[in-house]
Amino acid sequence: MKKAALVSIAAYAPQKILTNAELEKMVETSDEWIVKRTGIHSRHIAEDESLTSMALKAGKLALERSGLEKNEIDCLICATVTPDFFCMPSTAAQVASELGLGSIMAFDISAACSGFVYLLEVAKSLVESGAKKNVLIIGADKFSSIVDYSDRSICVLFGDGAGAGVVSVASSDNHIIATHCASDGSKGELLMTPKDGRNVGFVKMSGNEVFKIAVNTLTNDVVELLEKSGIASSQIDLFIPHQANLRIIKAVQERLGLSEAKCVVTVGEYGNTSAASIPMAMNTAYEDGRLKAGSLILLDAFGGGFTWGSALLRFGR
Ligand code: UT7
Repeated sequence: MKKAALVSIAAYAPQKILTNAELEKMVETSDEWIVKRTGIHSRHIAEDESLTSMALKAGKLALERSGLEKNEIDCLICATVTPDFFCMPSTAAQVASELGLGSIMAFDISAACSGFVYLLEVAKSLVESGAKKNVLIIGADKFSSIVDYSDRSICVLFGDGAGAGVVSVASSDNHIIATHCASDGSKGELLMTPKDGRNVGFVKMSGNEVFKIAVNTLTNDVVELLEKSGIASSQIDLFIPHQANLRIIKAVQERLGLSEAKCVVTVGEYGNTSAASIPMAMNTAYEDGRLKAGSLILLDAFGGGFTWGSALLRFGR
């Protein structure tokens, strides 16, 4: 059977930065509380920029870095829960057109903060089955469009951004070794956007409950994935988790017995960017030289739905 590889990674963060000091002027909070409870110092905010334009910028760079021609991409999938258009058209179809990819299959998936891990599993399946050869995957979210900036329990947590990669037929030992995606809709109300008339309402979260479930679920999920793959945590070159809260990241990292040096942390700069969080963190590690072709990486994610998952792969062509 063919194997699938993540051959490129890229990201885009909007220019405007919203600091903890600015939030102190907007709601009753403090830099000290935010840093201690979350590890977040700032987040990037899209302002006038659309979700599609952020997705486009990340997707374009991922395509360039893949070394492929536009006409070699035969599918584009976008994970987002904050699209520009409610219902349709999909972000993926818009980005495919703007990138000039022709009339390829293009669709969106909704898996909140687990979006990128879900994308990897779907793209892997399409490539391994032979249905597609090169799939452009984009995780993008603009939470500023659903955050109530008078709600201190939410507005300090989220930021905007996009991340992208290309999944192709593997041509070496570098490939996606295993993915696991799961959900539990019975807990959906703990992290949701209740409908406000005909409009999408603001995001609401029972933070403390979500925190405890996320730590337990993620730790069990990554341990199980490693066991099933026959890989010891000591073999991992980089752990690149979903960036929601530094305390969640540390809890899983410590349970895996990994050093801080092996753990990629970008939550301090970007906050929680939902589906963009993992590829943005991967891109940071790629650009600073930690993530190289052949690096063995472990990803984990947990988000609204609930959805969660993990992935194990050797990066690059
Ligand atoms: O990516 C999707 C998945 N999401 C997550 O994984 C996020 C999971 N949850 C979390 O990261 C944490 O639960 C939070 C960062 C959201 C909250 O931290 P916490 O340690 O669980 O705090 P808490 O919700 O238990 O609140 C503690 C106190 C409360 O005050 P009282 O009731 O003890 O007087 C809150 O009202 O902190 C208060 N509080 C704040 N204080 C200052 C809540 N937000 C703020 C704030 N500034 N921004």
